[in-house]
Amino acid sequence: MDQAGAPGNAVGAFRRMLVWISGASAGLGAALAATIPFDAELVDISRRGGTPGTHHVAVDLANPDMWPLVEEDFNRRLATFDGDGVVFVHNAATLTPLGPAGAVSTAEYTRNVLLNSAAAQVLGHAFLRAVADSKLEQHLVMVSSGAGRRPHEGESSYCAGKAALDQWVRAVGLEQQRRNPGCRVISVAPGAIDTDMQAELRAARADMFPEVYRFRQLEAEGRLAKPEDVARTIWSLLDRDVANGAVLHVRDIT
Ligand SMILES: NC(=O)c1ccc[n+]([C@@H]2O[C@H](COP(=O)([O-])OP(=O)(O)OC[C@H]3O[C@@H](n4cnc5c(N)ncnc54)[C@H](OP(=O)(O)O)[C@@H]3O)[C@@H](O)[C@H]2O)c1
Repeated sequence: MDQAGAPGNAVGAFRRMLVWISGASAGLGAALAATIPFDAELVDISRRGGTPGTHHVAVDLANPDMWPLVEEDFNRRLATFDGDGVVFVHNAATLTPLGPAGAVSTAEYTRNVLLNSAAAQVLGHAFLRAVADSKLEQHLVMVSSGAGRRPHEGESSYCAGKAALDQWVRAVGLEQQRRNPGCRVISVAPGAIDTDMQAELRAARADMFPEVYRFRQLEAEGRLAKPEDVARTIWSLLDRDVANGAVLHVRDIT
């Protein structure tokens, strides 16, 4: 796995950024919004919205018909933005349905594949198209998971989606190295965080998700990270010397 270096000095902290976060209505995404270290025009791409200080693009990202609304928002805001840089953190994801392939609802399984795998790639592509002619500082951060690197029973489409996202980042990172300035594209697995997604794991039936006891134990032992702490680590990556296409885990970032 690629490692993150120490923070660099290439760009100053006091810059004005245009930032989209998918799934900023809850969990890690809301914490990213709350801890943003820049003067930012901040946009939440989610169904619920409501996070203070954010504009809301109300979309169901498991519905491909709504993806063009996100692309339109990228283009519209970029057209009038006169700050220093642009950032897209694709963070929205879902575990539902927890259970073995072949045992769960086909409709829910389809939504999981569309959100975790397809939306990540298509929205990432849409962001890169939007910034292709821009000279601004550019960052695309994909929020991944250890599940993309180690298989878990009962999470096949989530695991596959995160693995796809990691490999997309590796390939697109190579492509962006040819652009000047390129967009820096990285993937980061946030570790186990105290959010609704963890609560969903703990509430699962053991016959659908055999690792449920391990996740209950993590919480009982107080080993879930606070979303704000993880969010600050993710933001710190923007100013670190990290290779384009790097696939990272927060536990490796010191
Ligand atoms: N929590 C963990 O321990 C953990 C571990 C490894 C990786 N991660 C990753 O970290 C990221 C954040 O997870 P979290 O724990 O913060 O999850 P969470 O608490 O369940 O929040 C998920 C966010 O994604 C959005 N979202 C879900 N389905 C959506 C849809 N169909 N359309 C648009 N937005 C949707 C939700 O917004 P709306 O409901 O408003 O749409 C919400 O803001 C995810 O990528 C997850 O895979 C988390």
